[in-house]
Amino acid sequence: MMDIKLCYDAFRRRKEKFGGIYFFTEPIFMPIDPDLIKCILSKDFSYFLGHGFTFNEKYDPLAAHLFNLEGEKWRKMRLKLSPTFTSGKMKYMFKTLLDCGVPMIDHVNDLCEKGEQVDIKEILACYTTDIIGSCAFGLECDSFKDPNAEFRRNGREALTVTFSDLLMRFLTFWAPSLPKYLPIKYLRSDIEKFFITAVKQILYYRRTNKVKRNDFIQLFIELQDKAEVEGTDGFTLNEIAAQAFVFFLAGFETSSTTMTFCLHELAFNQDIQDKLREEIRETYKQTNGEFTYDAIMGMKYMDKVLDETLRKYPPVPILNRVCSSDYTIPNTDIILPKGTKVFISALGIHRDEEYYPDPIKFDPERFNDENKATRPNYTFLPFGEGPRICIGLRFGLMQAKTGLAMLLNNYKVLPTRNEQYNLYLDPGTFILSKKGALMLSMEKIPN
Ligand code: HEM
Repeated sequence: MMDIKLCYDAFRRRKEKFGGIYFFTEPIFMPIDPDLIKCILSKDFSYFLGHGFTFNEKYDPLAAHLFNLEGEKWRKMRLKLSPTFTSGKMKYMFKTLLDCGVPMIDHVNDLCEKGEQVDIKEILACYTTDIIGSCAFGLECDSFKDPNAEFRRNGREALTVTFSDLLMRFLTFWAPSLPKYLPIKYLRSDIEKFFITAVKQILYYRRTNKVKRNDFIQLFIELQDKAEVEGTDGFTLNEIAAQAFVFFLAGFETSSTTMTFCLHELAFNQDIQDKLREEIRETYKQTNGEFTYDAIMGMKYMDKVLDETLRKYPPVPILNRVCSSDYTIPNTDIILPKGTKVFISALGIHRDEEYYPDPIKFDPERFNDENKATRPNYTFLPFGEGPRICIGLRFGLMQAKTGLAMLLNNYKVLPTRNEQYNLYLDPGTFILSKKGALMLSMEKIPN
């Protein structure tokens, strides 16, 4: 991902509007100019329908999720799932986020009392695993009590990239039609079974015991009931499991790395941390010592701090598309043939001097209204853009804001002696993260 950023920087230095690179024999188109990026992600979306990850639904049922789907199947699924993420629905799930924050605070308390440093990356991964486990699978995960709890273990393993995964990705990147003909599977069978069984059991339990909870599973049940009444297509078990699985895959690490990077920056920028804590404490006081959805979502300085975190560390550093039919690059006579892969370096754009002077500096004021208005559109892309923009954007932000508010309300965050400010970002991951643990010192502060 750093290599792609270097390519972006090189094209930018040459003042190119776009460029091209080769991945072995495979050409990749790289738009650089924000107006061209706008065309690809939004205006000319009909030429760039999908992410281009091919799969074999029969052998790999959990791969048939929203991120991988294309064409009509994607459109129908996106339409069905969109109401799941409205702010009204988010409000319903907010209580779960607060509940999952309690064991996190208890755990940090224990470590502080023992005078130990805090592996914040792992703690936040447990926090978001518990949330998504609860909201998408209806499970009480207890990752803090038992770091090897089934869900955390299976989740961790589902995300571990092995050599054979890399080989498979490489092969299908190079020959996308391969999964059509071969029984290719990305997920280990035992992990697949775990997730499908979890969904099957929870659906059965909820239906037979008429239990209702405010989570994604409940929303799927309602969508199924609605389809039955209307005589339209509902969801199959595998379809529900695949969507719950992508909520997990796409929702847990993106949010936990955002919070991790944010706390790292706040540890090194105490003035920003103090200002944010002031806002959190003021909000907490106004709502009589209990966070509410509206109060958390209404924090203006928190918004700026999170936006600046997502700018400097976009969890998805490369946005990708595949050209679905021949496309003439605007104002040129160059044709991108159908099947061409497109990489947009969100990391490159977010650290581009022209849009964000002194890009390594962490400065939330870049996101005040005045500064925002000076930048061209399509220069802030942490959630992507256009019809395929992240469907879980609201949920991700709600999760990150709630976790940060709970932690910063109780603790002062400080750097440890061994942690450097400039982090070494793991070059081998799809989601931007620091290689290894990220340690912080945390001091309890009186309320
Ligand atoms: C800070 C948190 C998050 C970030 C930064 C993030 C970022 C992204 C990005 C960059 C994309 C690709 C957009 C594109 O190609 O234009 C995406 C897609 C997606 N995200 Fe997120 N995401 C976050 C949280 C979540 C959460 C919490 C969920 C679910 C509960 C989620 C579910 C999805 C799904 C299903 C897609 C595929 C959408 C489609 O192709 O139609 N994300 N996300």
